[in-house]
Order: sequence, then C-alpha cells, then structure tokens
Amino acid sequence: MDQCLGLMSQLTSTSLSGDKSRLTKGIILAGGAGTRLDPITRVACKQLLPVYDKPMIYYPLSVLMLGDIRDILIISTPKDLPKFSELLGDGSQLGIGIKYAVQDEPRGLAEALIIGEDFLLEDNCCLILGDNIFHGNLDFFRAALHENTGATIFAKEVRDPERFGVVELDAGGKVLSIEEKPASPKSPYAIPGLYIFDHSAPARARALTPSGRGELEIADLITSYFDDGSLEAKTLSRGVTWLDTGTPDSLLEAANYIGTVQKQNAFQVSCIEEIAYERGFIDANALAGLAERHPNREYADYLRLRSGC
Ligand code: DAU
Repeated sequence: MDQCLGLMSQLTSTSLSGDKSRLTKGIILAGGAGTRLDPITRVACKQLLPVYDKPMIYYPLSVLMLGDIRDILIISTPKDLPKFSELLGDGSQLGIGIKYAVQDEPRGLAEALIIGEDFLLEDNCCLILGDNIFHGNLDFFRAALHENTGATIFAKEVRDPERFGVVELDAGGKVLSIEEKPASPKSPYAIPGLYIFDHSAPARARALTPSGRGELEIADLITSYFDDGSLEAKTLSRGVTWLDTGTPDSLLEAANYIGTVQKQNAFQVSCIEEIAYERGFIDANALAGLAERHPNREYADYLRLRSGC
C-alpha cells in the first residue's frame, strides 16, 4: 500500500502550467511591515498570527498543496524567516519541499519573483500572499494551473474594490484594464492575492521600475502580460470564499468565519497534515505519526481519525 501511495505522490508532483513541459513551483510572500495591524505586529509576525486555531500561513500553504504544488519557497523578513522555518521545517514531514528566502525591505509584491528566481529555475510559478485565505471548492485553481499559458489572475466581485487591485472585464470575461487600489474603481472585481505566472515572470519583474511609493507593483507585472495579450482572468464563483486578513476587522472576520465553518462541520479547514494525506503526499502511517507530535489532544485525535489508523 505504501508503494502505491509513493507512486501516486510522484504522479501528483507535476502541476503543469504556462509552458506545459515545466513544473509549477509555489511562492508564499509573507513579509512586509504589517503596518495596518500595528501594534499587534510590533513584535509578532503578521502571517503567523492565529486565524481561529491555526497560524495564518497554513491557509495559503494549503491552497498550494491543494493545487498539488510541492516545491514551495517562503519569503519573509530577516527577523521572521527563522520562525517560519521552525514551524514548517523543510516540509518533508508533509511530503513537500519548503525553502526559505529573505526580503530585506518591503520593496513590493513583484520582487518575490526576483528573489525567487534561483528557486524557480525557469519553472512556472504560483505566487500567493501570506495573508490571503481561500475556502471552498478549489477545482477552479487546479484547472487554472493546467490551463495557464502566460499569466492567470482571479477576479472576485466585492463591495469595496477600492481596497484592492481591480480588474475590469468585458461581457465575455476578457481583461480590459488593471488598476491598483483605484479611487474610482471601473469594476467591482477585486484581484485576490493568488497569481499564476509562466517562466518569464522573473525577467519581467526585473524589467519593472518602482512605483511612486517605491515598490515593484504586482499590478505592473500583471500589466506586462496584459500588454502581450497573454493575461487571463478567471472569475471566482459564489462557492469560493476569499478573505484577506490585513486589518483588525478582516482578521477577526476571517477567524469567525473559519471557527463557524469548523464548528458546523466534522472537517477542519486548512489542516496541512490532512491535506498532505488526502493529496497522496504522505501515507496513513505518516499521518498517524504526525498526530503524535501534537500536544493538543483534539488536533491529534483529528489527525488519527483521518488516517484511519
Ligand atoms: O489581498 C489582495 C491584494 O493584495 C491585491 O488585491 C492587491 O492588488 C495587492 O497589491 C495586495 O494589496 P495589499 O494592500 O494587501 O498589499 P500589501 O502591501 O498589504 O501586501 C500584501 C502582503 O504581502 C502582506 O501580507 C505583506 C506582504 N508583503 C508586502 C510587500 C509590499 C511582503 O511580504 N513584501 C512586500 O514588499
């Protein structure tokens, strides 16, 4: 049985996108100053704050794992990076590989592609922001990973688009414009912090010039694909909940949301050990072994139950 699972995990290890012969690797950007959560973030790292019962980074990590992405780079500040490594190690316990890289200063989201260039080695990239949570059916994401040819972004209808990157779409879903936090949004579609790029993203990011606020803007990187006609936007359905946790209110709302979902269901949200098992990255014995590491009895029992051991 273990052999079967080993084979299965090899087969699921190749998520393809962009140039279909290339692997898709994942980058989680988890740095920044966390200014909007000050004074909480004066000493605490934002992406390690609890969202209900798990560290925030578990949620974006889960998304990558659910997309069968198993080579992952976590980028954070020099101060916080060791904490991520202490929490997640090299990922082998989850059947994935996790590497770490420093961003000295918050010089913009697009800098992640430059920092990650040596890690990506000409492979495709899925970038996710460390404070973004997605919950629901992620078939849309797996499909996008397979279908991407240049860059793919997602579009979610929201009530307050001015807080986000905004994409304007025509009736057929074709991208008309991209704007970062426009005062007067041309559309109600926010761009969540989840992006799929082909292998050309690092070179494109290097060619960008910093914006007025001194950052390499993700909107400019996306626009470079738009200008080439190689940008796709996929609208998120009502079945997908997207939460950004960058402010005290949104952090509280996210925690309440996850707490409510978990209490109403027998399942955990973003339990990374369970996902590793469900995706075939580890076998049942390994999952049961991971349960032993948790002093939280309820969590350990849940892992044991899911393993069937
Ligand atoms: O949440 C989705 C939104 O995320 C998008 O709609 C926007 O287009 C995108 O710019 C971004 O907007 P934010 O206002 O949330 O960006 P923020 O500067 O807060 O950065 C997002 C996360 O990335 C945050 O957790 C901090 C981290 N970060 C940010 C910068 C600028 C870094 O790790 N390094 C950085 O250089």
